[in-house]
Amino acid sequence: MIGVAVVGAGHWGPHLVRNFNDHLSSQTLWVVDQAETRRKAIGERFPSVSLSPDIDDALGDDRVDAVVIATPTSTHNELVRRALEAKKHVLVEKPITNSLEEAVELCRLAESLDRVLMVGHVFLFNPAIVAAKEYIDAGDLGQVEYLSMTRTNLGPVRTDVNAAWDLASHDISIANYWLGTAPDAVSASGGSWLNQGVQDVVFATLRYPNGVVVHIEASWLNPRKRRLISVIGAERMLTVDDMDLNEPLRLYDKGVVGAEAEITDTFAGFRSQIREGQVLIPHVTTGEPLRTECEAFLARVRGGEGSLSDGWAGADVVSVLEAIDRSIANNGAQQEVETIK
Ligand SMILES: NC(=O)c1ccc[n+]([C@@H]2O[C@H](COP(=O)([O-])OP(=O)(O)OC[C@H]3O[C@@H](n4cnc5c(N)ncnc54)[C@H](O)[C@@H]3O)[C@@H](O)[C@H]2O)c1
Repeated sequence: MIGVAVVGAGHWGPHLVRNFNDHLSSQTLWVVDQAETRRKAIGERFPSVSLSPDIDDALGDDRVDAVVIATPTSTHNELVRRALEAKKHVLVEKPITNSLEEAVELCRLAESLDRVLMVGHVFLFNPAIVAAKEYIDAGDLGQVEYLSMTRTNLGPVRTDVNAAWDLASHDISIANYWLGTAPDAVSASGGSWLNQGVQDVVFATLRYPNGVVVHIEASWLNPRKRRLISVIGAERMLTVDDMDLNEPLRLYDKGVVGAEAEITDTFAGFRSQIREGQVLIPHVTTGEPLRTECEAFLARVRGGEGSLSDGWAGADVVSVLEAIDRSIANNGAQQEVETIK
């Protein structure tokens, strides 16, 4: 049985408490939260769990093998460091930290102490995202040309990080996973209306090797909740709509043929340039991605291999986020993405 302490029981933490508590091979022993109201709520729902406002109480318990951190991003660096130094394995929510330098230091610390450091990039455990990766890798779309990624909603509004760090961190992790690499350069712009200096919306363009372009719209100030990704390949196209619980993935056997060949002023002539093939809606198994993520973490703690969503993958995401911030600060000028490791 793997003993788990969850630090941070706000909006997201209780889902982690539940998953580790329900799992046959783990038990949530401690929940740490500075807010008494949050500790009280957890105590009512999980009466067997010990509660504390101070992480040291959990770190001092020898039964605790792993610490799961779901506090605001600005607190991650210190809490992850303390947990690793106490020789605990760590699963930290995304993004790993709010600084690339700190992220790299944490990865090196985990390696030197032989501890697991994993980042909660939950979409890497989403069945539709995993199935899309299989289609991309099998060459079903042909050469990937560009990705369009939209992640909007009204709230939740954060103050310690902007909409890119909060929301686009998901899309960057997905794009890096699908394309098997990080981008070389980024340009971005954004706007702050709710809190000065904290962008509520960010439009980012990421340039990956081989000319692949990725555009991300991330906003917590939009009336429509949208989680939509389009992947445009030279031969086929694919969409993942995370709001569609039953049929999130679609493959389009569509394209434009001979776009340059003929100039025509008739509608029929225009349509003849569009190749309209079948739309395939593959069956995607449903299931809670967070549960799969927690299982992957437990497998790593038990000694299993795996680098999906490890600390270095989390640091790659932070490197892109820092480049986005630099570009916003420089009126959208393209910035190189720092390579790591
Ligand atoms: N993977 C996902 O889809 C997903 C979804 C939501 C949030 N998150 C991530 O989870 C993290 C938390 O987000 P949230 O929405 O739950 O935030 P939140 O503000 O609702 O909750 C954070 C909790 O941490 C507590 N806290 C803060 N500092 C602490 C400290 N030093 N020690 C103990 N407790 C402390 C607060 O009292 C609060 O209850 C963020 O990193 C966020 O990006 C991930």
